[in-house]
Parts: sequence; C-alpha cells; structure tokens
Amino acid sequence: MIPRLILTVLSAVVAQAQTPGFNQTVLPLLKNNCAACHNNRSNSGGLSIEDFYSEQSMVSNRDAWERILKRLRNGTMPPGKDKPAGIAEVISFVEGALETREKKPSGSR
Ligand code: HEC
Repeated sequence: MIPRLILTVLSAVVAQAQTPGFNQTVLPLLKNNCAACHNNRSNSGGLSIEDFYSEQSMVSNRDAWERILKRLRNGTMPPGKDKPAGIAEVISFVEGALETREKKPSGSR
C-alpha cells in the first residue's frame, strides 16, 4: 500500500503542474499580439516584447511590466478595438504577480 502522505504530495505536485502559469496564460498572448511590432528588430516605442518572455522578467524588469500592465488595462495596447481573447486573464495574472511581489519586503520570500 502506498502511504497516504506520498499520495498527497504527488497529487499536489500534479495539481501545481496543471495550474496555468505564465507560459500558458501570458506568453502566447504576447507572442501573438505584441511581437509583430515589439520585437528585437522593430522595437516600437523602444520596447521589445522578447525581453518579457519569462516570468523572471517580472522581477528583473518590473518597471517595464508596470508599463505593459498599464497599456493592457487602458486598452491602448494592442492597438485597435478588437481585443484578443484571454486579455482579461493576462491582466489579472500580471496584476497578481506584481502585487504579490510588492507586498513582500525585499529580501524575504
Ligand atoms: C500594431 C503595432 C503594435 C502592436 C501590435 C502592439 N504595440 Fe505596443 N506600441 C506600438 C507603438 C507604435 C508604440 C509607441 C507609441 C506609443 O507609445 O503609443 C507602442 C508602445 C508601447 C508601450 C510603451 C513603451 C514603454 O516602454 O512604456 C508599451 C508598454 C507597449 N506598447 C506594450 C504593448 C503590448 C503589451 C502589446 C501586446 C498586448 C503591444 N504593445 C502591441 C505598437 C504596437
């Protein structure tokens, strides 16, 4: 018989792997809706979205993420009135990620 503790740990690991994270929620939208204008060649507005293809960039490049979030919220990016599907999820994911890191005093995790 498999001890209950091991089962509990295993199912927690599986559940975590299934929770949509940055790579599922945010990355596809950036690639599909921002990269055409904001890439390493034509970095419109001085921004290459390729710098923001990792969750880690929310820590290392937080200021720029704040600006991205602002543009997503106020609807100026991506330009045009048809907003991509899933943009609300992206906004709340980014809000959540930036907020969590804000509340924790630096140095502790
Ligand atoms: C059709 C081309 C185009 C697309 C698509 C586009 N942008 Fe932009 N973006 C621009 C241009 C041009 C500027 C510079 C003018 C301005 O600031 O409005 C800009 C400026 C910005 C800025 C301000 C620059 C800065 O560093 O503060 C941000 C942030 C931004 N875009 C984010 C995004 C995000 C995020 C997406 C995808 C959801 C996106 N953009 C999609 C053309 C685009």
